[in-house]
Amino acid sequence: MLTGRPALATVLLCLVCLLALKPQPAAAAAAAIRCTRDIIKWVGELIKKTSDLQWLDCRLYTPTIQDYQNCPSSTLKCFADEVKVLVKEWETVGVVGFRNLKLNIKLEILASRFNQTESECRQCELLKVQNATVFLEDLRSTLQIINTDFCR
Ligand SMILES: *[C@@H]1O[C@H](CO)[C@@H](O)[C@H](O)[C@H]1NC(C)=O
Ligand SMILES: *[C@@H]1O[C@H](CO)[C@@H](O)[C@H](O)[C@H]1NC(C)=O
Repeated sequence: MLTGRPALATVLLCLVCLLALKPQPAAAAAAAIRCTRDIIKWVGELIKKTSDLQWLDCRLYTPTIQDYQNCPSSTLKCFADEVKVLVKEWETVGVVGFRNLKLNIKLEILASRFNQTESECRQCELLKVQNATVFLEDLRSTLQIINTDFCR
């Protein structure tokens, strides 16, 4: 039997194809890319650092959980912009290294994974100004909600 082997190979190939093509439920895939364990870990490190830098008295536009729930994408973009401001501010007093984490870029990518067609969102510059501790805690709470919803 010369045909036995190719036939078996075809069957195997098709099995492989089927496994590879097995559609992931779209919702699950969309959820998985919003899971952010890495970012939340580093925000924790920033929060630790903040206690040494209270004297610096940074003030940042600070979204609330409610802002995130109404406008996830623009809220995460605001967090991204303000994290960048904070990291730059720290660099002016010699606290370096946080830029390498690229937290602002990671947050921007996360923002892009939420619905972009939001309307009636508050501009970042119209949000309440808070100190770095409150800002970072709000960011962490927001990421916790995201992870509760989207990490498996
Ligand atoms: C930050 O602001 C909050 C609320 O306004 C205040 O309770 C807290 O003491 C402030 N922390 C620092 C380090 O200034
Ligand atoms: C995205 O926004 C549009 C317009 O506001 C809305 O109709 C749609 O349901 C939203 N999609 C998701 C996944 O939230």
